[in-house]
Amino acid sequence: MKILNIVGARPNFMKIAPLHRAFSNHSQIQSKILHTGQHYDEKMSDIFFNQLELPEPDFYLGVGGGSHTFQKAHVMLKFERILLEEEPDVVVVVGDVNATAACSIVAIKMGIKTVHVEAGLRSGDRCMPEEINRIITDAICDDLFVTEQSGMINLAREGVSNHKTHFVGNVMIDSLIYYREKAKQEDILDKLNVSPDGYILMTMHRPSNVDNVKSLEDILEIIENAAKHKTVIFPMHPRTSNNFGQFGLFDRLHNIQNLSILGPQGYLQFLKLMDNAALIITDSGGIQEETTYLQVPCMTFRDSTERPVTVELGTNILMKDLNPETVKIQMEKILNGEIKKGIIPPFWDGHASKRIVDVLFNKYSAKTKVRDKASSI
Ligand code: UD1
Repeated sequence: MKILNIVGARPNFMKIAPLHRAFSNHSQIQSKILHTGQHYDEKMSDIFFNQLELPEPDFYLGVGGGSHTFQKAHVMLKFERILLEEEPDVVVVVGDVNATAACSIVAIKMGIKTVHVEAGLRSGDRCMPEEINRIITDAICDDLFVTEQSGMINLAREGVSNHKTHFVGNVMIDSLIYYREKAKQEDILDKLNVSPDGYILMTMHRPSNVDNVKSLEDILEIIENAAKHKTVIFPMHPRTSNNFGQFGLFDRLHNIQNLSILGPQGYLQFLKLMDNAALIITDSGGIQEETTYLQVPCMTFRDSTERPVTVELGTNILMKDLNPETVKIQMEKILNGEIKKGIIPPFWDGHASKRIVDVLFNKYSAKTKVRDKASSI
């Protein structure tokens, strides 16, 4: 059975790594990796391949940045050619990035079984590019592997047959559990001269937060407030860094005492930083889940979350309003010990990939390859 795993952007790598490992450990599965190249530089891509022990991708599309239409159109044209040659039995897409939707459209149209890992998540906010990617992908894929109960409910509401949906847990947490001990050996806290619980970790990269001057200024004020309490460590996404420069806000940022601005961090370094933070302030999707698993307090600067279990069972608090004063009050509560005690959601146990392998192998290994090549033309 030949499986082709798709990655495109940073949050995909830690999801495909445990799947690729589980597929490769199966004697009757051949697992290959295709990288669309949406994230392409050393810090956004290569370091993850090294640290997560992923082999060089078998196929690299080199699409790079650009508008979402540009990215998707180029991925689709190049991916079609590879599928025609490669003829995999199953294509695996993960998460909600542009590669996820673009590759699933191409593969499904070519009659290839295509499955979505991390299906069913919905923020309800169609202004988020990721929400559109999620809806498209789930509407067409053959099998949907779900991380949390809300995903099963959303898919049922959208009329998806329960033969297609599988509640298997969270492959990103598989990676976290697999690498947590290794991450403990990283010396990043010493390098940054901070101690466990002695700092606030921050990430911010969503277009809704960093693509306009008003919200970037609010974020600056929030950092200024936070840095009065503890050192703030801020590994910066390229989009955010570009925008601080473009809006002329770098000087104000650099004037903040007690702030360490870093470039994007490797997987192990960032895991160590999360595991030891007093508080994490973020707008990321995945970090909401990782902090829930690690039981570290997390404030998420978003109006909605597609991962409600992190709020209902976990340590996540949604900050719907980017008002620096509201954020300050909530932050001070947490730093003064008013911490939300969370529990780890069901099936976030390190074995989600294994469950996925079992479903896929049982369902598709004996199938006859029937391809409607005409539909690919
Ligand atoms: C993408 C994902 C988002 C995910 C985020 C994590 C989509 C729709 N969005 O958004 O879900 O949370 O990745 O990082 O797929 N850049 C570099 N080097 C790189 C990659 C990008 O400098 O290796 C720059 C690009 O030139 C661009 C900016 O970063 O200016 C944003 O990259 P882009 O791929 O458009 O989307 P992300 O914001 O990273």
